[in-house]
Amino acid sequence: MALLAISPLFKLWVIFLLLFGQVLATSSPWIQYPSFGYATLTHYSLPLDFVASCGCTGESTHYPTAALSQMAYGSSTAYGPACGKCFNLTLLNTFLSTPPWYPAENPNIVVKVTDLCPLSTAGFCNATTSGPNSGGHYLNFDLAYPSTSISNNFFPTNESYYGYSDFGVWNISYESIDCNDWEGWNNAGALGSVADQSAESVCCPASPDNSSNTCPSYSDHNGIAPDTTTSAGHSIPRPYIFTLSLVSATLLSLFVYFV
Ligand SMILES: *[C@@H]1O[C@H](CO)[C@@H](O)[C@H](O)[C@H]1NC(C)=O
Ligand SMILES: *[C@@H]1O[C@H](CO)[C@@H](O)[C@H](O)[C@H]1NC(C)=O
Ligand SMILES: *[C@@H]1O[C@H](CO)[C@@H](O)[C@H](O)[C@H]1NC(C)=O
Ligand SMILES: *[C@@H]1O[C@H](CO)[C@@H](O)[C@H](O)[C@H]1NC(C)=O
Ligand SMILES: *[C@@H]1O[C@H](CO)[C@@H](O)[C@H](O)[C@H]1NC(C)=O
Repeated sequence: MALLAISPLFKLWVIFLLLFGQVLATSSPWIQYPSFGYATLTHYSLPLDFVASCGCTGESTHYPTAALSQMAYGSSTAYGPACGKCFNLTLLNTFLSTPPWYPAENPNIVVKVTDLCPLSTAGFCNATTSGPNSGGHYLNFDLAYPSTSISNNFFPTNESYYGYSDFGVWNISYESIDCNDWEGWNNAGALGSVADQSAESVCCPASPDNSSNTCPSYSDHNGIAPDTTTSAGHSIPRPYIFTLSLVSATLLSLFVYFV
């Protein structure tokens, strides 16, 4: 009864807040990047046959893959516009070491983006449209390494000078390329999305181009804003997301009913 007594002006105000809040939650502050440029490269552990955020087949892990920093990836959970894209990454120099090191050789690797590197307040996946990471770049590729598909000698080392062999972070150049240059291209089982999950939660094109045929943003689609307060895990389990949307949908319908 109390709800029915609320003034029409107040109802309008609440509706305005709801609509405006929705717009705020779904506006996309994603980073747009050129097809060639500079970035940082880190590495992380991805178990063999693991199905990561994009929902690319587990077999994709038998070839070089990488996670892309969240605001360039284009979603804060599940698939995003970067999913399935292939990049040629070339190691240039280290810069956290003292002094920076410029190896004589500049090895390159072609990776497919299969995973999300979550936005955090520090670390190398923290670039947003308002500023780069501490390497001065807006993109970080997090290479799945070690990997059965990448030589253990892939990263140049200079242990006699620095006293350690893993520099952790590299300054690199990247180029968006066609996936037919990716090592997994001739293995149909390594291409595309997992078949046993609903098309709703996966998107991993075999060969996305620069404009069309790419994945939409799962976050934009579901009104999930990037969360800079946590960097836990690579994705929220689907049942949890479903419960959340069910709860908000229920609350919304109750609200509409009473208004
Ligand atoms: C990747 O980049 C290197 C230069 O760093 C180049 O030599 C190589 O041809 C490129 N590979 C592809 C597939 O574009
Ligand atoms: C090792 O690093 C030092 C310092 O950057 C450099 O002077 C030296 O040439 C490097 N050695 C090799 C083999 O690249
Ligand atoms: C990312 O973290 C570094 C420190 O690690 C900081 O200097 C930089 O401003 C941060 N970038 C953003 C966009 O917050
Ligand atoms: C990365 O390499 C580019 C091209 O050589 C250079 O302009 C830039 O300063 C380098 N960044 C770092 C952090 O070393
Ligand atoms: C994206 O565009 C660049 C420049 O137009 C082109 O060189 C590159 O091959 C394109 N990548 C793909 C995957 O089509």
